[in-house]
Amino acid sequence: MNPFIDIRNDFPILKQQVYGKPLVYLDNAATTQKPTTVIDALCNYYRQDNANVHRGVHALSERATVNYERTRDDLVGLIHANNRREIVFVRGATEAINLVAQSWGNANVAAGDEIIISAMEHHSNIVPWQWLCERTGATLKIAPMNARGELLMDQFDAMLHARTRLVAVVHQSNALGTINPVAEIIQKSHAVGAKVLLDGAQALAHMAVDVQALDVDFYVTSAHKMYGPTGVGMLYAKEALLEAMPPYQGGGDMIRTVSFERSEYNDLPYKFEAGTPNIAGVIGFGAALRYLQSLGMDAIAKHEQSLLAYATDKAESTGYIRLIGTAKNKASVLSFAVNGVHPHDLGTILDRDGVAIRAGHHCAMPVMKFFGVPATARASFAVYNTKDDVDTLFVAIEQAYAMFS
Ligand code: ALA
Repeated sequence: MNPFIDIRNDFPILKQQVYGKPLVYLDNAATTQKPTTVIDALCNYYRQDNANVHRGVHALSERATVNYERTRDDLVGLIHANNRREIVFVRGATEAINLVAQSWGNANVAAGDEIIISAMEHHSNIVPWQWLCERTGATLKIAPMNARGELLMDQFDAMLHARTRLVAVVHQSNALGTINPVAEIIQKSHAVGAKVLLDGAQALAHMAVDVQALDVDFYVTSAHKMYGPTGVGMLYAKEALLEAMPPYQGGGDMIRTVSFERSEYNDLPYKFEAGTPNIAGVIGFGAALRYLQSLGMDAIAKHEQSLLAYATDKAESTGYIRLIGTAKNKASVLSFAVNGVHPHDLGTILDRDGVAIRAGHHCAMPVMKFFGVPATARASFAVYNTKDDVDTLFVAIEQAYAMFS
């Protein structure tokens, strides 16, 4: 049975009209919509179970703790982590990267060391490393890409050496859709003794990921790009790394004992979860993970690849659309410029047709600079999108182009 046939019924928000037109939501790289199971999980927590986790001896707290911790097990299953101590709940991919840069970075990076990122990084995988380099005297190196938006691996190879401490790259680019050759990057980085962090904020909702098969050191993501709530995400790290890393924030739950003289830290992963967490968010995240698993990651990838191929063909056949990001290996993102139409104007016109896309620099200003554009228009696909959505998008683009030319 095709699990995608009636899938739109799972997403109440998609039933609405915008300016009198049926909503066509194509801004999934910014955030995905939420299925009823996720909305219900959030509501049920607040209606029935609202209590703090890990602290109470009463029934509500026990239920909240069980449901909260269940999400950790769901994540272990989804990404094939070795065990639940390797999964830390954070605010999102951005906080996870900042955590690694501060905790692992401060302890392991020194003057003369090097950190490599790529030319297609989101600002969240640039700024924390710039700060770490400023603090420590390390150097930030940028692995370049070609005009299709693919990493130039021979130049990456040439950058690696014994002083490379960390390679931090995006798994799937939010601005271009490029899927990077992460297995090769990890193997080559490890050969010189460098650790690898993958920014999986875009990847994890669109493809199967196995952190143990990849042998990646750190993997980060945000729930809201995976049909879950905003304000919650995951840091995966190998247990030995987390064990050796100092805590990131101090407070309740991350300690075993506290006196005014000194504090002893809690076991993993709680050492990194100071304060009352986003309990409802984590529980909603678990519902989203189970939703993804029920569809199957390989089936999701296949469905979205067929939409991307269909949309790419349509864009190429217009003669007036320049695709930004044409990597051979890419997923779920169509970034483009329409001749004579500013992306912001295009986004506004499409909105009047009920079509939601993103127009802007996508928090990846260096990518825009590389391609010589101030911004792009971006349609990004999710499980509930259809070929009809793509057709509606291109009819609306055609009208906008006609209006301006
Ligand atoms: N980083 C998100 C995007 O690509 C917000 O739209």
